[in-house]
Amino acid sequence: MTYPCPRVAPSRHRLVVPLVLAMLAALAVPLLSATPAEASAPLRTHAAAKGKFIGFAAATGPLANESAYRTIAQTEFNQITAENAMKWDATEPSDNNWNFSGADQIVNFATANNQQVHGHTLVWHNQTSSWVHNLGASAMRTAMQDHINTLVGRYANNPAVVSWDVVNEVFEENGSFRSSFWYNTLGSGFIADAFRYARAADPDARLCINDYNVEGINAKSTAMYDLVRSLRAQNVPVDCVGFQTHLATQYGFPTSFQQNLQRFADLGVQVRITELDVRIQMPRSSAKDATQATYYRNVVDACLAVTACAGITIWGFTDKHSWVPDTFPSEGAALIYDENYQRKPSYTAVHDALAAGSGGDTSPPTAPGTLTSSGVTASSASLSWTAATDNVGVTGYDILRAPGTSGGTFTQVGTATTTSFTDTGLTANTTYRYQVRARDAAGNLSPVSNTVTVTTTGGGGDDTTPPTAPGTLTSSGVTASSASLSWTAATDNVGVTGYDILRAPGTSGGTFTQVGTATTTSFTDTGLTANTTYRYQVRARDAAGNLSPVSNTVTVTTTGGGSGGCSATATVQTQWNGGYVIQPVTVTNTGTAPISGWTVTFTLPSGQTLVGSWNAAVTVSGQTATARNAAYNGSLGPNASTSFGFQVARPGGDSTVAGSFTCTAG
Ligand code: XIL
Repeated sequence: MTYPCPRVAPSRHRLVVPLVLAMLAALAVPLLSATPAEASAPLRTHAAAKGKFIGFAAATGPLANESAYRTIAQTEFNQITAENAMKWDATEPSDNNWNFSGADQIVNFATANNQQVHGHTLVWHNQTSSWVHNLGASAMRTAMQDHINTLVGRYANNPAVVSWDVVNEVFEENGSFRSSFWYNTLGSGFIADAFRYARAADPDARLCINDYNVEGINAKSTAMYDLVRSLRAQNVPVDCVGFQTHLATQYGFPTSFQQNLQRFADLGVQVRITELDVRIQMPRSSAKDATQATYYRNVVDACLAVTACAGITIWGFTDKHSWVPDTFPSEGAALIYDENYQRKPSYTAVHDALAAGSGGDTSPPTAPGTLTSSGVTASSASLSWTAATDNVGVTGYDILRAPGTSGGTFTQVGTATTTSFTDTGLTANTTYRYQVRARDAAGNLSPVSNTVTVTTTGGGGDDTTPPTAPGTLTSSGVTASSASLSWTAATDNVGVTGYDILRAPGTSGGTFTQVGTATTTSFTDTGLTANTTYRYQVRARDAAGNLSPVSNTVTVTTTGGGSGGCSATATVQTQWNGGYVIQPVTVTNTGTAPISGWTVTFTLPSGQTLVGSWNAAVTVSGQTATARNAAYNGSLGPNASTSFGFQVARPGGDSTVAGSFTCTAG
């Protein structure tokens, strides 16, 4: 059989290293399984055979300077956490002043040795540069986002770096939120923000919340449990929970450890032991070493018993380099190698726990059959399959999920002991693929089932992709009061639900405002003014309210109506001492629409009187004369003319004539 590589290597771009590991394991493991030589195999070999990682916290000094340290580091472990090198004060000592030397050193070492790296830690109240502490809320949130974005982003495409502690130690012992500068400035919302920023910076990284004194079931671990459950219900991307597991023999072993790990696992998160050490009150003795060894064994056994437990990171490995003596006066010797790099009973305990059962049952179960999706909502998918069989017994199933219709990597999203599972917390209107595999008590994994593809329903909240712009908007018919428009359909990742019709006045300028909506690809705008120019655009919308860019602009001018103005031009035909004739007064329709009547006014100089008129009815009031059209010459088409005339008497010696001719249509 081929043993699985550690399941925590989750993503597409991380496929290469796990594949290589798997190929190496395929060559190495049959020997190890079949012969007593396996007993002396390094920790990582046994851990990998169980589908777990075994790691250590790396200190940059000895990693660079001590070959004994390096040799054990690369031989025994398949996972590394930077003990200090990825913390805020190490990476961003002042605002936007970055130092990646220690972080890169560790990532490069891990890459060279086929080890995965867990990033530790993004948002913590300790070892965070002082410039962050006193920022105002908005500046602090920005600093947090920038820090996460830059640090996580730096390794987002690095296949070795697979996970991050996003927030660390956010609880007090009684389960209330820790009164840190983060909490006191930003409120508890900084936690969700930090996870969202981290997800944006590396969509594939596994994102963890980490704390101490949460190993057993107690007020603090229950507060963390409630927080994780609530964050995940709100789609905050919390993928994993880290249990630091800094134990001390004088306080006893947290007996509810496995049960506690399992209750978190049942929330659908990965769990991991992140900072294991077991300190004793100095000096060492063989009795204390033996007690310590049982603690290590219990921790490894608990992780092995919980499928969703990805592995164990020991906080260092040699007592020569351990934070314990500096932190806990008169305590120490907390690790699995002594100060001279010699294995302690605690090493053997870890080794034997990881190796337990090897050489026993090596037959994997058969693949689960006929995986189907039995129900899909906007945020969940229910799966069922037929049972696998095993020579000893199937103990459970792993549910694996990959994004989209192809590509990506299947990562474990849950476990089941029955033949059905409901995956929750999914994104609406999104496609996922699922596979299921069976496992037995010895940790043997079956081949995966068939793949089933599901697409969650709902067009809602999370769709942020707008439709494409509608194409080729044209006007298909224009009257004096309406314009008909048509266009080619827009497309959308979810579906176009309608179109907005926008109109602006005139041939340029003005503002486009929405005048209607359509669910087809045509629209008739009514109530327009005759003989008026308008511009139209159309845009598409989807169910989530995303708006497409607008279409091309089409310009239309309604027919008819119009201003229908007129002008009057007077010519003096003849005059004499005592009178004159004005003929013709030419009336012209200067508008673009027909007129059905006209009125011309003109002024008679003082002392002059109207004698007679023709082709119009002229009345005089004071010095103002008003000429209305006759019944037969009122209607004029655009540009058409007609005329009238009149005769005036004036005093002898008066040579003035009527003037100020003004025409009004209607
Ligand atoms: C410790 C390191 O081991 C020390 O070297 C450093 O001086 C202080 O921090 N919880 C954590 C770790 O999450 O980052 C801490 O590491 C130990 C407690």
